[in-house]
Amino acid sequence: MGDFIGAVDQGTTSTRFIVFDHDGRPVASHQLEHEQVLPRAGWVEHNPLEIWDRTRTVIGSALTTAGLATSDLAAIGVTNQRETAVVWDRRTGRPFHNAVVWQDTRTDSIAKALDADGRGDVIRHKAGLPPATYFSAGKVQWLLEHVDGLRAAAERGDALFGTPDTWVVWNLTGGPDGGIHATDVTNASRTMLMDLTSLDWDDELLGFFGIPRQMLPSIHSSSHRTAFGETAGGRGSSAVPITGVLGDQQAATVGQVCFEPGEAKNTYGTGNFLLLNTGEELVRSRNGLLTTVAYRFGDAAPVYALEGSIAVTGSAVQWLRDQLGIISGASEVEALAASVDDTGGVYFVPAFSGLFAPYWRSDARGAIVGLSRFNTNAHLARATLEAICYQSRDVVDAMAADSGVALTTLKVDGGITANRLCMQLQADILGVPVSKPVVPETTALGAAYAAGLATGYWSGTDELRANWAEAERWQPRWNDAQRRDGYAGWRKAVERTLGWVD
Ligand code: G3P
Repeated sequence: MGDFIGAVDQGTTSTRFIVFDHDGRPVASHQLEHEQVLPRAGWVEHNPLEIWDRTRTVIGSALTTAGLATSDLAAIGVTNQRETAVVWDRRTGRPFHNAVVWQDTRTDSIAKALDADGRGDVIRHKAGLPPATYFSAGKVQWLLEHVDGLRAAAERGDALFGTPDTWVVWNLTGGPDGGIHATDVTNASRTMLMDLTSLDWDDELLGFFGIPRQMLPSIHSSSHRTAFGETAGGRGSSAVPITGVLGDQQAATVGQVCFEPGEAKNTYGTGNFLLLNTGEELVRSRNGLLTTVAYRFGDAAPVYALEGSIAVTGSAVQWLRDQLGIISGASEVEALAASVDDTGGVYFVPAFSGLFAPYWRSDARGAIVGLSRFNTNAHLARATLEAICYQSRDVVDAMAADSGVALTTLKVDGGITANRLCMQLQADILGVPVSKPVVPETTALGAAYAAGLATGYWSGTDELRANWAEAERWQPRWNDAQRRDGYAGWRKAVERTLGWVD
C-alpha cells in the first residue's frame, strides 16, 4: 500500500492536487487556475476540457516536484465545486457546451416558474433546497433546451451529465474508454433531483426539469472502496483507487472533523459556506438554509447538515482588484482596510448574483450605501471585509433559529482566513471566538480522509480527530452596542438591494 493519500480539489477558480501523510499534513501540492468565461452579465462558464487538462497537470507536477510516484499513493479522493453542470458525449468525451457554473443566473426564469405552480414546495420537501439558479437541475434543463442535438443524444443515452467530481472521475478512470460515470450523495444533494431520504434520483423531480434519467451518474457513498474505480494508469504510472468523492464544502466539514451534531465550520472561498452537522436527523430549515447531505461513509447511515451558502465573499475582494483596481493583489486588502479605524459609515452588499442564504433573492443586486465625501478606498476595502463577516452573521443567526443551539466557536478555513483583520472582524460581528486549524487545506484534506477511510489507511474518525489542531484564535473585541448597531446598519443596507431587478 502507498504511504500517502492524494486529493484533487477541483474548485471554482482553480484546481489543485495535494498529497497528505498519515498525520493529515500536506507533503506535496500544485495548483493551477482556469479561465472564468463570462459571455454576458450574470453568465459564468468554465471549459471542461481545460479543467481536465489542469487536473492531469497538477497531479503530475505535485508528484514530480516532491519526488513521488503514483505508486506512493494508497488512494485518491476527489472534491469539487458543487452544482456546476457539465454535459458531454460518452463516445468522444467532448463536452456539448461549456460548464454552466453555480454562480450563473441564466436560469432565473426556470427557477421562478418552479415557485409559481407549486413544484417549488415539492423540491423543498424532497431535495431540501429552495428553487434557485444556484443548483444544477435548471442548468441541465437550459442546456437541453438550447444546445442543438443534446436532447436527442440524452434520450439515446449518449449525453452524460455530471458535476465536476463526475467529470473528473470519468476522465481519470479512462474517459471514452470505459470511464466510470458516478457521483456521491453530497454532490447529488445539490442538484434538486435527489430525494434526501431515499438518496436516489427522483422521477417526479426529473420530470419537473425534463431530464432523462439515463444522463445521470450512479450515486454512491462519499467513501467507497470500489464504486469510483481506479485511475487509468499507463505511461509508467500505476493505477490508484479513487475511494473518496464529496462536494468541496462537505469535504471541508470532514477536514475540520465536524463529526458530531452541533459542530460547524465556515469556509471562505469565492463565496462562504457554513455547514452545521445535524447528525442522522434531516432538519428542514424555516429560516432560509439548505438541508444537505454532509457525508456518508461506506454503509453507515448518511449524516446531514444545514448549510448557509453565500454567493459572493472572496470574489468581492477580487472585484476590488479586477474591476475597481483599488488593490493590486488580494493580500493588499488587509493593509488598506487596516489604514482606517472603521468603515466611516459605509456598507457594501455584494449581491452580484442576487442574494443566497438566508434571503434567496435573485432580484437583489449589489449596493454601496452610506457614502459621504469623506469616504475613501480604504473605507470601501474595510466595508468589503465587513460584508464577508455580516453575511456569515446572517447565516449563523438563521442556524441558531433553526437548531435552537447558539454557536459557541466558529471553525474557519479557506483563503480569506489568512486575512487577520477579517477574522478579527468576524469574531467582533458574531460575538463568539473564531478558530483556525493548523492545516488550512481542509477541503482537500476532507477528500483525502474520505478516500483513506475507505481503504483502511485511517482506522476511523477518532484517528482523524486527533490530527486536528488549532493554529490561531480570535476573541471578540466589540462591545454589545457596537455589535448591535453595526448589524442593524447591515440589515438596512441589505433592504436597499432587494427587488432591484425584475
Ligand atoms: O457551492 C459552490 C461551492 O462548492 C464552490 O466552492 O470553493 O469552489 O468557491 P469554491
